[in-house]
Amino acid sequence: MVPVELAGTVKALVLIGGFGTRLRPITYTVPKQLIPLAGKPLLYHVFDLIPRDVEEVVLATGYKAEVIDAYVRSHPTPWPVRTVAESEPLGTGGGMKNAGAGMSDPFYLLNSDVVTSGDLTELLALHRRRSGVGTMALAEVEDTRPYGVAALGTDDRIDAFVEKPEPKDAPSHWINAGFAVWAGSVLDRIPPGRAVSFEREVIPELLPLGMYAFRLHKYWEDAGTPERMLRSQQLLFGDGRGGPGGVPAGALGTGPVAAAPGVRAEGASFGPFVTLGEDVTVERGAHVENSILMAGTHVEKEAMVVSSLLGPKVRVRAGHRVSGQTLGEGVEA
Ligand code: GTP
Repeated sequence: MVPVELAGTVKALVLIGGFGTRLRPITYTVPKQLIPLAGKPLLYHVFDLIPRDVEEVVLATGYKAEVIDAYVRSHPTPWPVRTVAESEPLGTGGGMKNAGAGMSDPFYLLNSDVVTSGDLTELLALHRRRSGVGTMALAEVEDTRPYGVAALGTDDRIDAFVEKPEPKDAPSHWINAGFAVWAGSVLDRIPPGRAVSFEREVIPELLPLGMYAFRLHKYWEDAGTPERMLRSQQLLFGDGRGGPGGVPAGALGTGPVAAAPGVRAEGASFGPFVTLGEDVTVERGAHVENSILMAGTHVEKEAMVVSSLLGPKVRVRAGHRVSGQTLGEGVEA
């Protein structure tokens, strides 16, 4: 068995090339991974999962690749980060193939929208003990419909994997949590030069080679929809990953609020779970709770924002109520 101390030779590949369609209209101008929750962009919460001793992190980018690249270059990370952009979307498998040259054996693979307490060092240790071709983190959920679902056998071997099944066809409630460890040889099985779904085209071929489950027992969420992004924010705050909490200077209420530099909120009030981006203004008498307000957004006096995602430079007019909405950059409500 290879000792876990050799974790330093491992690299991580992060898939970050999707369009984020379920978070439109915000994702027309801001890539999903740069939407801030609990005080920092989703991507940097994913980065927090990656052990400090990995050798390199490779981002397989596509949609808004240059925006992501610029952000990562100007915000420090514990390891070197390299981006490899796709000129057209290659899907999950195609993205892995395109960015996978020089990957370690094994390597971490992560989606860029997972929020979890899962421990990647434990995942790698389990992978090494099982000596299969891959070890996939699985989360237990009630509604399996949007996910890939695993059938589990002896020693948590994954016997079958069904992508987005009808509930009656789901073999269990354990779903692909969006991060895994794979043997380097897995990349050789992905056809080059075209779009490939790793889940639909490659995983079925890998099952006979031995794939194992790493069951998650604390929290997990996929932040890919507005509702799930707000739920993810609650989980992160609940886990102490949203900063010191409290409310901005001169404001009232409970918080926790994660406020970026330049926020002004004297006389405003806040319920729990709020992120305020740079230069957000919430005027006197306005109230915000369970929401994300991106940079430059302005909530005028006596307005209310509840359970909503507001893109950059949104304006909520005095006395208006915004509830359960996702508003794109520059919208006036
Ligand atoms: P939706 O459009 O709302 O479904 O979001 P998405 O585009 O992010 O798709 P999904 O959540 O299913 O993607 C899972 C992960 O794979 C995310 O981290 C995506 O960024 C990534 N991904 C999806 N498609 C591609 C692709 O074509 N290339 C690369 N490199 N990554 C992708």
